[in-house]
Amino acid sequence: MLKEKVEDALNKQIELEAYSSQLYLSMASWAEKNGFNGSSEFLYIHADEERGHMLKLFHYINDRDGHAIVPPLKQPPVSFESITAVFEEILSHERMISDSINDLVAICVDEKDFTTQNFLQWYVSEQIEEENLAKTNLDKLNMLGDAKANMYLFDKDMAAQSTTGGGTAV
Ligand code: FEO
Repeated sequence: MLKEKVEDALNKQIELEAYSSQLYLSMASWAEKNGFNGSSEFLYIHADEERGHMLKLFHYINDRDGHAIVPPLKQPPVSFESITAVFEEILSHERMISDSINDLVAICVDEKDFTTQNFLQWYVSEQIEEENLAKTNLDKLNMLGDAKANMYLFDKDMAAQSTTGGGTAV
């Protein structure tokens, strides 16, 4: 049985993962509308992955006799200054998510809930990957600069990441 403090913190994380999914979805839509088809494909896939992160928490809470709560929808930004601005926002968003997971682990330690602490290790590792991926994509954009031909190359690389799980073209 989950302690109330842990259950509340897990439900808060559900809210954040749901918002992450919404944010990536909004970014995907903006990228699609602005001709970044490879990036949009990558972002649509990522929106689904975030929903997966949310569902994993749902099942865990309910399996431990808690109650997973569907959070209200919060609207993410609908437009972005550039594709670089999108990836900058992804990096700062993922860093915020990592902080939240770390806070959640700290609550589990305080409450001596080592089962949930163990469950959260998946998220701890996942956040290392999420931050690395965001940083790598942003580094590529910064190296390429914003000339149109380079944006085309970057977008092609994003299309490759969507099918192989890792970019190689740039
Ligand atoms: Fe679920 Fe991108 O963190």
